[in-house]
Amino acid sequence: MPAATALAHPNIALCKYWGKRDRALNLPSVPSISLTLSPFSTRTTVEWGVATDELIMNGGPASADEARKVFAVLDLVDSWRPRARVVTANDFPTAAGLASSSSGFAALVLAATAAAGQKPSAEQLSILARRGSGSAARSIFGGWVEWRAGERPDGMDSHAWEIQPVDWWDVRMVVAIFDGGPKSISSREGMKRTQETSPYYPAWVASAPLDVSEARAAIRSRDIEKLGAIMERSALRMHASMMAADPPVLYWKSGSVWAQETVTSLRKKGIPCAWTMDAGPNVKVLCEAGSAAEVAARLGAVADRVQVLVPGGPARLVNGPA
Ligand code: PMV
Repeated sequence: MPAATALAHPNIALCKYWGKRDRALNLPSVPSISLTLSPFSTRTTVEWGVATDELIMNGGPASADEARKVFAVLDLVDSWRPRARVVTANDFPTAAGLASSSSGFAALVLAATAAAGQKPSAEQLSILARRGSGSAARSIFGGWVEWRAGERPDGMDSHAWEIQPVDWWDVRMVVAIFDGGPKSISSREGMKRTQETSPYYPAWVASAPLDVSEARAAIRSRDIEKLGAIMERSALRMHASMMAADPPVLYWKSGSVWAQETVTSLRKKGIPCAWTMDAGPNVKVLCEAGSAAEVAARLGAVADRVQVLVPGGPARLVNGPA
């Protein structure tokens, strides 16, 4: 049976994606920018032509909801597809705000198209991955990545592209982990509620494009202070829009605030660094390679666990099953 295995790294958004202009096609209301991160990865094997559709996730059968999402994406790869067995594993906590869906759907579409003998471009892969999870559109690429919102109703212009490659800038992303458990509200549900009920949502959408163009320039000039200020502004505005939803979409825990205050005090000591937060309580801190040890030590005093990540490469085919 034709099979292929792919590996993809998760990405963390520096300028956030929150809200959809088309829910069915997963088209974003705003552009976003991310950094692809190693060594965390998802490894996925797709085997076509088996007796029944099956999804094995992290060593066990996946939930019906997960399976529905995965096989819906395989239907887009080939609408007359044979049944498939998908085996996928993350080497980091699933669904804890560490973007496991970003690496998951990127690895899935690369393995599925390769096993089907297709040779899509990176942009086509990004469009396919976007249908599984918006942020997965960015994990097809390595390094510094932008996902354009696009304007076309069919979404064919809403894909990611590489701003700068993995070796452009020697930075680190220090992840302060407070809670490895599943998130309280899925990003899909959180976005829907924010969009439908938050009076701040229109202001968030209006402010995001400028964040993206300024962050792109800061990345190209390797300006950590400028990029850091934009990162925190984007995360705060996204979370402000969520908090104003009804009922509120609140991912923060006390530890999240302690980590943010730690970052502010590191900056006061002259160490350039900046935080971001996604749909979970964990805080991710961007800094230059030379300051990562001190940043990690300081965050280690307030977090359950700290992990130092480096810029990661694009999604790629690998040998051997997941
Ligand atoms: O791709 P999704 O549906 O898991 O949404 C990701 C949302 C955030 O992580 C909060 C922001 C982002 O741009 O990744």
